[in-house]
Amino acid sequence: LREHEEFTKVKNIATIELGKYEIETWYFSPFPPEYNECVKLFFCEFCLNFMKRKEQLQRHMRKCDLKHPPGDEIYRSGTLSMFEVDGKKNKVYAQNLCYLAKLFLDHKTLYYDVDLFLFYVLCECDDRGCHMVGYFSKEKHSEEAYNLACILTLPPYQRKGYGKFLIAFSYELSKKEGKVGTPERPLSDLGLLSYRGYWTRVLLDILKKHKGNISIKELSDMTAIKAEDILSTLQSLELIQYRKGQHVICADPKVLDRHLKAAGRGGLDVDVSKLIWTPYR
Ligand code: ACO
Ligand code: ZN
Repeated sequence: LREHEEFTKVKNIATIELGKYEIETWYFSPFPPEYNECVKLFFCEFCLNFMKRKEQLQRHMRKCDLKHPPGDEIYRSGTLSMFEVDGKKNKVYAQNLCYLAKLFLDHKTLYYDVDLFLFYVLCECDDRGCHMVGYFSKEKHSEEAYNLACILTLPPYQRKGYGKFLIAFSYELSKKEGKVGTPERPLSDLGLLSYRGYWTRVLLDILKKHKGNISIKELSDMTAIKAEDILSTLQSLELIQYRKGQHVICADPKVLDRHLKAAGRGGLDVDVSKLIWTPYR
């Protein structure tokens, strides 16, 4: 599909069934032509294969033996698990995930080769299996220091802190790689809100502890957040002054507390001791 065609495409699939949820879609997603006439699709919540009819899904569920995403479980804490799926080793799953994700992502052209990406799938687990909550993708090798390509929390799970958990997770991976990272641009409105919230909380917590006596470079080394993102966050909070050709952080404790309150809930924390992972080679 060429770019201009995609812009003129209207949303075809109006709802999907996924696990116990029926979810209204947000945007057009380029499913293969044989699905053009469908207004509803039925997804297997484990392998993400999609079908036109409920009966097909029911038949599928009787023989599908997956109970979690394919790939390696790299994190487990309580009922939360994170799986790393290699787009090259699990191509069909990765493609299905992209079709599904595009239903909720407006500006992304998901036409890159899934081979080049890793997919980090967050699940809530119970005795029936591990149910996908959201995911983010990451290029195996990014020239631009991107540590996240696309991020999604499925609508039934939104506004519960999972987005900030996924963002925090992407930075924990960057720390393990010894690199700074930044999300691929452009960000959606909700993406920017979530990132701004995450950056604000992480940076202000450190500024409070250090009483502001810290440089942007040091903040970047500690958090794996790219210096530009730190600067823009602190600038938007009006915590930066420009003196004698240098950026200076001004961190009045009262001002920090006020911003921290406004930054909202902290969300779910990533327990780094439960992350078992080595960078992709
Ligand atoms: N209205 C207002 N603020 C919101 C909303 C909303 N509907 N949703 C999220 N936010 C803001 C809030 O500040 C929220 O923090 P708070 O609840 O403490 O106030 C913060 O974003 C993050 O909330 P979370 O619960 O941690 O995030 P969530 O699980 O809802 O996921 C995400 C955020 C991933 C952006 C989700 O909205 C989503 O999947 N959207 C559709 C896909 C998308 O736009 N992805 C980002 C594209 S950019 C990219 O991929 C690089
Ligand atoms: Zn299946």
